[in-house]
Amino acid sequence: MLAMNKFRILGASVMVVAATVMISSCDNKRSTGWEYAPNMYRHLAPDADQENKVFADGKTAQLPPDGTTPVGFARFDYAKNRDGYDLAAAEVKSILPQSKENFEEGKVLYMHFCSPCHGETGQGDGLVVQHGYGAPPSYSKGNSSRTGGSMKDLNDGQIYHTITYGLNSMGSYASQLSPEERWKVIMYVHHLQTL
Ligand code: HEC
Repeated sequence: MLAMNKFRILGASVMVVAATVMISSCDNKRSTGWEYAPNMYRHLAPDADQENKVFADGKTAQLPPDGTTPVGFARFDYAKNRDGYDLAAAEVKSILPQSKENFEEGKVLYMHFCSPCHGETGQGDGLVVQHGYGAPPSYSKGNSSRTGGSMKDLNDGQIYHTITYGLNSMGSYASQLSPEERWKVIMYVHHLQTL
């Protein structure tokens, strides 16, 4: 009997404390209430969007110094125009070894990203073309590359520039394909150029 009462008193006390906490935490609507370990989110380091007296322009978020390269970022310092394309044609070479593995991965990426327009065999007859989209030129026939020559002769740098920036109605694939993936696709495009 006594034991039962003990539990009742304990239960009632817990309820009273809980109700007090609830009610007292509601009286100030702007207060976040009791903060547990506030130094976890009120940290000493300034946030990127905060003022900062350390820097001359008073901002925390600073631009990286000119010429710096983020870790893991592959530079491609060729302009998005014909001059950049011609320079890439002369200077840029694939960074990947010719291997069956790279070739097979390039084929899969080509099928996903390029074949809808360029067609599975690179003849410019992909699925969207069959539904009315203007056909891209064949990789192996005719003289319709932007150089006026054959697509068959396009080299590493020219194709890399095209994938990176796009050309007219073909968009850029820079955000979908990493530099390494672009080189794999190019390996497969070189194969299609021989068909
Ligand atoms: C939305 C359809 C579309 C997709 C997808 C597409 N292309 Fe194209 N591509 C075109 C068209 C259209 C042209 C012709 C553009 C022009 O000459 O105006 C073209 C042209 C090219 C050229 C020739 C550039 C030159 O210098 O003349 C290359 C190389 C090329 N594409 C490669 C690719 C690769 C590789 C992919 C996949 C990563 C791809 N394209 C995806 C539509 C597409």
